[in-house]
Amino acid sequence: MQAFDELVERRGTQSVKWDDLATRFGRADVIPMWVSDMDFPTYPGIPEALAERARHPLYGYTTKPPDYATVIGGWLQRRHGWQPDPDALVHVNGVVRGLATAVASLTEPGDTVLVLSPTYHPFRDITEHQGRHLLEVPLVWDGTRYVMDFDAVAAALETQRVAAAILCSPHNPVGRVWTRDELLRLGQVLLDHHVLVLSDEVHCDLIYPEYRHIPFASLSPAFASHSVTFVAASKTFGLAGLQTSVAIIPSATLREPFVAMQDALGSGLVNTFGIAATMAAFRGGDRWVDALMAYLAETRDLMLQYCAAHIPAIRPVPPEGTYLAWLDCRALALTDDELSRWFVDQAGVALTGGSDFGEAGCGFQRMNLAMPRPVVEQALAQIAAASSRP
Ligand SMILES: Cc1ncc(COP(=O)(O)O)c(C=O)c1O
Repeated sequence: MQAFDELVERRGTQSVKWDDLATRFGRADVIPMWVSDMDFPTYPGIPEALAERARHPLYGYTTKPPDYATVIGGWLQRRHGWQPDPDALVHVNGVVRGLATAVASLTEPGDTVLVLSPTYHPFRDITEHQGRHLLEVPLVWDGTRYVMDFDAVAAALETQRVAAAILCSPHNPVGRVWTRDELLRLGQVLLDHHVLVLSDEVHCDLIYPEYRHIPFASLSPAFASHSVTFVAASKTFGLAGLQTSVAIIPSATLREPFVAMQDALGSGLVNTFGIAATMAAFRGGDRWVDALMAYLAETRDLMLQYCAAHIPAIRPVPPEGTYLAWLDCRALALTDDELSRWFVDQAGVALTGGSDFGEAGCGFQRMNLAMPRPVVEQALAQIAAASSRP
């Protein structure tokens, strides 16, 4: 049995993924493969750091440790070959909060924000709920993978004034790890039109062995100074409940209004446990992440082979990064609501409906593979059984 094969009981821990099943899906007895949250016990250095911090019985307002920038920069350098200027690092309480703060401080009400769809659904909330327009430019399926439609992006920028673009890199839900050429081409067209780039790189450590993540801001000084990048230990190490992330804002012209907006919103305070966990992760979690990705790569391959052999009606898009699988279920010929109900009621698995990610996701479902492999195998067997029933 491999380390990641152990299933730890999470019910009763106020886990959104497990304890909200009945509320969200109408049934608690399904395999939860929806929200992007891992079921693996984290890197042991993290609970050790948390236990040590918890032993000190004072939990007042907390500041960043002196080696904050060195440790985070060291991780980014080791993992992605990019060491941002220490002054560029701004603590944020979660990536979505950071993106919302960037939209609030660096764009104006009525402005348009571009995304490549289908895409992570909170991007819609943080723009439209703040009075910005969301412009979705669909990704294109080229027969083997999703690619950016540069002509459509350029055409959109010619016809409307776009203030910012939210880049999801790697891309949730389609699992692309954007290549250097793709990022250079997209970045150039955006910069030519003075579009600010908000690069959500929260999945950047979850890259399958044959791919490489390129931080957008690492590509050139101009890209760096026209962008805000978000990273965190949260997806990589399963720390989402600690809501601790980093915004990297090399340009002082962008950083100052961003920080002023954090002050205006009363956000940006350091969570005592979140910072302890993040520092422990980025100090010593390298080998744990390497082992995690090797395990997830085997699970991904198993899922791809299993679907090809036993569930021909469901065609998974091979992910290059993230532990999320984007499943093309259009051959089942069901509406989106019917499809989600089919997975819950017939197969006993809870997935995320594709249309949550925009129109471009209709007919698809997103499956979270970050579970012990025996559980993934069980889920696939249940889906196969459901799909072979008349
Ligand atoms: C692309 C992307 N951004 C942000 C988040 C959430 O980040 P946070 O919990 O730090 O707000 C997720 C979570 O699934 C995500 O997939």
